[in-house]
Amino acid sequence: MSGPRRKVLFVASECLPYAKAGGLGDVVSALSKELVRRGDDARILLPLYGSIDRRRFGIEPLQPICVHMGGEEIWAGICRGTLDGLVPVYFLDHGGFFGGRDVYGVGAAYDFDVRRFAFLSRASLQLALDLGFVPDVMHLHDWQTSLVAAYLSDLPPGFEPLADTATVLTIHNVEYQGKFPADAFPWIGLPPDAFRPDRIEDFGGLNLLKCGIAYADALTTVSPTHAREMTGEPGGHGLGAMLAARAADTVGILNGVDDDVWNPEIDSMLPARFAVDDLRGKFECRRTLQHRFGLEERHDLPILGVVSRFAPQKGFDLLRDVLPGLLDAGLVQLCVIGSGARHVEDFFRALASVHPGRAGAFFGYSEEGAHLVEAGSDFFLMPSLYEPCGLNQMYSMRYGTLPIVRATGGLADTVSDHDPRTGAGTGFVFVEATAEAAADAIGRAVRCWWEKPSHVARMRRAGMALRFPWSVGADLYERTYERAIAARRARDEAPEDGDA
Ligand code: ADP
Ligand code: GLC
Repeated sequence: MSGPRRKVLFVASECLPYAKAGGLGDVVSALSKELVRRGDDARILLPLYGSIDRRRFGIEPLQPICVHMGGEEIWAGICRGTLDGLVPVYFLDHGGFFGGRDVYGVGAAYDFDVRRFAFLSRASLQLALDLGFVPDVMHLHDWQTSLVAAYLSDLPPGFEPLADTATVLTIHNVEYQGKFPADAFPWIGLPPDAFRPDRIEDFGGLNLLKCGIAYADALTTVSPTHAREMTGEPGGHGLGAMLAARAADTVGILNGVDDDVWNPEIDSMLPARFAVDDLRGKFECRRTLQHRFGLEERHDLPILGVVSRFAPQKGFDLLRDVLPGLLDAGLVQLCVIGSGARHVEDFFRALASVHPGRAGAFFGYSEEGAHLVEAGSDFFLMPSLYEPCGLNQMYSMRYGTLPIVRATGGLADTVSDHDPRTGAGTGFVFVEATAEAAADAIGRAVRCWWEKPSHVARMRRAGMALRFPWSVGADLYERTYERAIAARRARDEAPEDGDA
């Protein structure tokens, strides 16, 4: 069933369990494992961030590497580990670039990211050469590693073994484009003709994602609906026209759920495990969740859960009126884990302090807490303004928690709305990005809890029975690799037009 053994090098800024800021980390980890299980020779290159525990993950030094950038020789170390006993992972060890604990620079430190990730991108070519691992495909993820596509298009002398290596760029989030001042351009080391508005130049500065879109042999994003949304505006966040021009080379591949990590039957992070035909463990998780968040142990009130980055994309501003109203009326409990925009944190903090026993919030990152909220809640709130795929709504359904989502991107592709006549559906879906529409969907969910418990039970079962296996996604990625390899070959064979 699996195709020929392809050599694939993932170049990425996140991979669970080493480093994760959002869903990108889940995807790099789960997809690479699935490819190896299918017989592909998939490997990963990641930065060795200061936060990665070398001992815990058995990361060992392998060899030094010398990367040429901006006329300098930059020496770093290559270390090696193995993801879940399956996927070889190379770590780029350079204290100056990656020794800090943060995956991404924030505030003033952001401008340094262009150099950190250009270095990672350039190092990926050197690594392939030094290790004699010549990939059929380099699989790139978001702006952080987009430059690899441009580097492979214009190989310096000595890099000829990589002449046939194709590139696939997966766009997880088109809003984050890696925009930087142009002064880093000479250091990055692209040929001068890359500084054009249809390549890396963007209003006088640099746009790394745009560069990846221009040079990659094939493009993907993380759901079919988002693949359409991003070829226009506002979905394309300014790159809609460019993405539309490459629509024939683009495919939307829905993310999957890693069954090793998100499976309530074996989840060791939970106080109890459960399955669709025996939900006793879910009710124990519910009690632990109430306890952990200082909530009253109520069986009659539905618990609304949130686990999220607090970015504008996530739409929490739509909940400003409805949540205080529901809590004031004593109709729900609320558990929140997340961090990000200050005003969103303040909103949830205020709810928790005005409604002790009914609402609780934790501001930070907690893997275990995220599993507990997914398992112990009754409803999961994801009112995203846009959502390329979204993983939490899929995790929720698997854990018998009904998602309340806006019909956008991957949320539209994975959650079906409650049918009040039959009780069919797997969640509550609203369309307009307005506070009224969000309030209506949450109101429908809460009323359903009170008035139609049999519908809630049916939807729970339906959601838990759904599967989003990575085998489906891996199959589509393998086909995309083949297309990229063919496109790369065609490009090599095409007569020079002096400008391509
Ligand atoms: P995005 O990548 O846009 O943040 P996704 O839904 O695709 O959205 O993925 C988010 C991932 O990050 C999920 O695995 C979710 O559980 C996790 N996550 C987000 N915030 C936190 C947090 N504060 N603590 C733990 N996990 C979190
Ligand atoms: C991005 C998107 C999210 C997606 C994730 C993994 O961060 O915001 O929707 O699920 O990447 O692909």
